Amino acid sequence: MSDGVEIVGLSKNYGAFVALNDVNMSIRNGEFITLLGPSGSGKTTLLQMLAGLTAPSGGDILIGGKSVVALPIEKREIGLVFQSYALFPHMTVAGNVGYPLKMRGVARPEIARRVNEVLELVELTNFAKRRPAELSGGQQQRTAIARALVFEPSVMLLDEPLSALDRRLREHMKFELRRLHDMIGTTTIFVTHDQDEALALSDRIAVLDGGKLQQFGTADEIYRQPKTRFIAEFMGETNIIDATVRRGDTGLIAEDDGGRQIVIGQPDGINEGMKVALGIRAEQISLKRSNLAVDGWTGTIKNKFFLGNSYRYIVDCAPHSIVAQVSAPHADEQIATGDLVALTWDPASLQLLPA
Ligand SMILES: Nc1ncnc2c1ncn2[C@@H]1O[C@H](COP(=O)(O)OP(=O)(O)OP(=O)(O)O)[C@@H](O)[C@H]1O
Ligand SMILES: [Mg+2]
Repeated sequence: MSDGVEIVGLSKNYGAFVALNDVNMSIRNGEFITLLGPSGSGKTTLLQMLAGLTAPSGGDILIGGKSVVALPIEKREIGLVFQSYALFPHMTVAGNVGYPLKMRGVARPEIARRVNEVLELVELTNFAKRRPAELSGGQQQRTAIARALVFEPSVMLLDEPLSALDRRLREHMKFELRRLHDMIGTTTIFVTHDQDEALALSDRIAVLDGGKLQQFGTADEIYRQPKTRFIAEFMGETNIIDATVRRGDTGLIAEDDGGRQIVIGQPDGINEGMKVALGIRAEQISLKRSNLAVDGWTGTIKNKFFLGNSYRYIVDCAPHSIVAQVSAPHADEQIATGDLVALTWDPASLQLLPA
């Protein structure tokens, strides 16, 4: 029922404009993959080529080991859910969900059986007779998912299916989606520009920018070891400090323009004189009140925000403005605007990025 997907050198040009540039991805049977990237990065373009809605300019797509680029959409056995659920307004929930089976000429009793089964899965059994206008956003979305699942596709494609929902429902539905996936095990490719969604849901994340695949890895890899500055900045709140590598007493150090130093040890491929960018995640920074301006990373609290579960501080470490986020139970409540603080972090959490 579920199949792996092989994307080989896939490209799409619109005239001289390159919307997707030589993308290679090997997706395992049953994996939950997220395509993550800013607006215009080529996410929908890639999904549409997988679905058969857009023809590639170059490259190949294999599903279950067979090339599908010559196959029309209805022969690809792909379930599709779009941002706007595109439900038929005049049909009931059951009618909408059964539609793909009707199109495939499945007999009525069999349609009824499978519709019931899939409605149970998305917990909409009691809503079968309602029309889309009589449903909440989340229920409409589950109807669209049920319709995509009912013919047991070998691959599920979801293009920002949660973007029309309010924040609370989005939170709920994102875990629902993962739960459904874990129950059915269909290979799933999910599109979002929300990094929290990507991190929470995916077995692996593919980061796209400007039509290029920037990095393809587990949530942990993408978050902890971003390959580029773009990814480091896109995945949550990261302070980036440009520096030059120098030799210190105990190993290499990175020194910024103002002479502030960060010990970086002896990473592979990093040598004296190299320009690098250091990424320090906001949540990796600890703050301690300090009454003297010592060497190293001290600064003045410029702003303090209470975010409920954490505090967010903007620390003036001229010429840098450093963002620190400390979870509320661990925060020193006394720290206030204008205070002098010392900044520390676990050296293992430092990200060494190309300049
Ligand atoms: N039919 C088309 N003709 C010309 N350019 C197109 C066409 N479709 C898409 N593009 C361009 O290709 C690029 C990628 O578009 P795509 O829709 O894949 O982006 P996306 O990553 O899905 O963005 P969003 O997050 O805004 O949905 C964009 O710059 C877009 O303007
Ligand atoms: Mg899109």
